[in-house]
Amino acid sequence: MGFREDFLWGGATAANQCEGAYDVDGRGLANVDVVPIGEERFSIIAGKRKMLDFEDGYFYPAKEAIDMYHHYKEDIKLFAEMGFKTYRLSIAWTRIFPKGDEREPNEKGLAFYEDLFKTCQQYGIEPLVTITHFDCPIHLIKEYGGWRNRKMIEFYERLVRVLFTRFKGLVKYWLTFNEINMILHAPFMGAGLVFEDGENEQQVKYQASHHELVASALATKVAHEVDPENMVGCMLAAGLNYPYTCKPEDVFLAQQKDRENYFFIDVQSRGEYPAYALKELERAGIDIEMTEEDLALLKNHTVDFISFSYYSSRVVTTDPKLNEQTEGNIFASVKNPYLEASEWGWQIDPLGFRTTMNALYDRYQKPLFVVENGLGAIDTPDEAGYVKDDYRIDYLREHIQAMKDAVEIDGVDLLGYTSWGCIDLVSAGTGEMKKRYGFIYVDRDNAGNGTLKRTKKKSFDWYKKVIASNGEDLA
Ligand code: BG6
Repeated sequence: MGFREDFLWGGATAANQCEGAYDVDGRGLANVDVVPIGEERFSIIAGKRKMLDFEDGYFYPAKEAIDMYHHYKEDIKLFAEMGFKTYRLSIAWTRIFPKGDEREPNEKGLAFYEDLFKTCQQYGIEPLVTITHFDCPIHLIKEYGGWRNRKMIEFYERLVRVLFTRFKGLVKYWLTFNEINMILHAPFMGAGLVFEDGENEQQVKYQASHHELVASALATKVAHEVDPENMVGCMLAAGLNYPYTCKPEDVFLAQQKDRENYFFIDVQSRGEYPAYALKELERAGIDIEMTEEDLALLKNHTVDFISFSYYSSRVVTTDPKLNEQTEGNIFASVKNPYLEASEWGWQIDPLGFRTTMNALYDRYQKPLFVVENGLGAIDTPDEAGYVKDDYRIDYLREHIQAMKDAVEIDGVDLLGYTSWGCIDLVSAGTGEMKKRYGFIYVDRDNAGNGTLKRTKKKSFDWYKKVIASNGEDLA
């Protein structure tokens, strides 16, 4: 009963939110570097406001982030102390191919990750590697228009071949694209899309999605060829849409909204464009260019497991008067009157986590992996620098319990759990440092001040106990 013996407990980060060192050892510039903190951030992320380089008058938090590039040994040591079995991190594409279209990789970038993986290995930590976590080389955006261009499949293939070959024996678990469905809401992140006035944005987004889906299938193929031990997963920004009422129109709308997200995973897991998507694309006048070879790749190289992030459920309604909104992961939702919310307005719904897990397992019948979950909160250290983050412990306890119920009571097959931002890092949505998720406090503020000192929070010892008891002791 309970979690499997080899359950992969751990934490997750993304290169651009923690590494910093944006121009060190030959690293090239990426989209994620040039999104500043502040009011314009969202329009840039959404591809509406073009910012392809640093501009005067802005603060760019990813430039230094928490400087994990120079602190990874210390940080991984702390993860090991908590008992991590896995550590989810992402590769910065521009460390390996600074411009993206070179023939030869940058050795210094490869050496960095090699040493990082070896450090993990030394502590018995299994790396879980996201190949692209929202990043795309700026050069590929300027020269090719990002993922709207089919050439991107070739550049991505170059990247993954190098990674799978070089890190064979060091890395076994791979995720092709972080939150692939986010392309619909934050197309500059991940897909490097910037729209021209009057352009059919939906057409561009779905064409770019197709390229990513094909690239993902190709990566799965190559991963298995290079090492049959490799396990490749897709990654969904999950969270079901609840109908606001039992009015059939609301229920139907919730199903439609869920399909917007499932679409990506349906292709990656079942190997085909689902019928509902083909119909919807046709109605919307979206014509995706795809080849027979694409279709064969999608069909023959589906993912081994389904990974996802879960922070909150969402709510939809057909009633225009019910328009009170609440914030959520990148995009807002109708407010659920039955739920509390975090300081950033993300509603807290542990049972929704269990429901989401069941929905995914029912749909795909493949092992699941929870690769993000957590509470973004303001932490205030006491005079000794200690953070008593009972609110975070409460959030995680309830979510881990819900996850346990999904496994123990409902029979969901779950490989592991990596809580988001196991060490404080830059927020993807807002660019803030003060929105913290970690078990480890990092002394740095929104303006980039601070010593970068790492300090264990109360949740550090709590999570250590959770892992040691394989999820039995959540007290
Ligand atoms: C997910 C992303 O969308 O949510 C992470 O994969 C992100 O990169 C996380 O950090 C939490 O969002 P935020 O906006 O609080 O950082």
